[in-house]
Amino acid sequence: MELQMVDLRGQYLSIKDEIDLAIASVIDKSAFVKGPFVAEFENQIAAYLGVNHVIGVGNGTDALQIALMALGLGPGDEIIAPSFTFVATTEAAALLGAVPVFADIDPSTFNLDPNCIEPLITERTKAIVPVHLFGQPSDMDSIMAIGRKYQLAVVEDNAQSVGSKYKKRYAGTIGTMGTLSFFPSKNLGCYGDGGAVLTNDSDLAERIRLIANHGANKKYHNEVVGVNSRLDGLQAAILLVKLNHLRDFNSARITAADRYDHAFEDCRFVTIPVRATDRDHVFHQYTIRIAHEFPGARDALSAFLREKRIPHAIYYPVPVHLLPVNTEGIHPYRAGDMRHTLSAAEQVLSLPMHTELAPEQITFITGHVTRFLESYESVPA
Ligand SMILES: Cc1ncc(COP(=O)(O)O)c(C=O)c1O
Repeated sequence: MELQMVDLRGQYLSIKDEIDLAIASVIDKSAFVKGPFVAEFENQIAAYLGVNHVIGVGNGTDALQIALMALGLGPGDEIIAPSFTFVATTEAAALLGAVPVFADIDPSTFNLDPNCIEPLITERTKAIVPVHLFGQPSDMDSIMAIGRKYQLAVVEDNAQSVGSKYKKRYAGTIGTMGTLSFFPSKNLGCYGDGGAVLTNDSDLAERIRLIANHGANKKYHNEVVGVNSRLDGLQAAILLVKLNHLRDFNSARITAADRYDHAFEDCRFVTIPVRATDRDHVFHQYTIRIAHEFPGARDALSAFLREKRIPHAIYYPVPVHLLPVNTEGIHPYRAGDMRHTLSAAEQVLSLPMHTELAPEQITFITGHVTRFLESYESVPA
C-alpha cells in the first residue's frame, strides 16, 4: 500500500484550481515581497485567530528570534522552555546570548509541566516559552499565572498547533506573543518557508515589524539592529487559500486520529495520545507511546515498520538539552529534573498524519503495529 507520512501532493490536488489561480495572481501583479497578499493574509489570519496583530516573517525559527529580540533578550538573560521539542524553540535564545533553561514535561500531554517552571526561575529569567506540541495547547492558565507572578513574558511556540483552542482562545494568542511556522508539513503550511508573530500588544507589534525589517520603519532610517525576515507574496497567497480550508483540514486530522484511537483500543502495548478536556488537539502529529514494560520495543517496532515501508518518525529521539549544541559547551544552558522528557524520547513514535489519510490506510498501519507488538511480547529483544 502506498503510504506517506505527509501527503502534500494529495492535498494540493484537492484545492489545485484555487492554488493555481492564487499563484498566477501574485505573478501577474509581481507582488513578490510584502504587498497586498501579505497584508491581506495578515489581516485574515488575525481575524480568524482573534488576535490584534499578525506580522508575517520568513519562518517559524525567525518568528521566535524576532519575538525574543522584541523583548530585548540579551546575553545572560534566561528563558524557560521544554526540551522535548524541535531545536528551534531555544536556538534563538542561544543566538542572542541568552541561556536556555530546560524544564520537564507533563508525561500525558508531552507539554511543558507548569509545576517544573517555578523552581527554575532566577532573577535573570525573562520569558517562558511553552511549546504547543503535536497539535495540543499547553496548560496556559497555569503558565500565564506564573508569568504574572514573576513578571515574565510568555512566548508561545505555536509552530505545531495552529487552529487549536485552549478553552475559548486560539493557541498562540494567549501569551505576550505567539509564533507560527508555515513549513509545508504544518497544519497550515505554505509551499516553502513562512512564519508569523502574533500579539495583542500594539507597541510590541510595532517593534516586531521594525526588527523584521532591518530595524527600520522608514527606508534608510534604521533605528535598531534587526534582521531581514519576510513572508513572501506567493506564500501569503497560498496561505490565504489554505486558511479558508484550515477548519476542514484540522477536522480531517482529528477524524484520522479518532480512527487510530479506535483501532488501538484493544492493544495494551500502545498508549494513544491523551486529549486534555479543556482544549482541542488538532493532531499535527499522531504520536503513540509504546508501553514501558518492554524496553527496546519502540526501536524494534520502528525497524519493523521501516522494513514494511510504513512511514513513521520519532519526534524527538534526543531531547534538546542533550543535543551536542548544548552538551559540547558551545553555549551555556541549564536543565531541571528531566525524567519525563527522557522517557518520552525513548517511547514515542509518530504515525502518518495528514489531511488525505484514508480509513483503509489507517487499518493497514495499525494492523501492522498491533501485530508486531503482540508478538514482541513473547520474543523480547
Ligand atoms: C516546535 C517548533 N518550533 C519551531 C519550529 C521552526 O519552524 P520553521 O521550520 O518554520 O523555522 C518548528 C518547525 O519544525 C517546530 O516544530
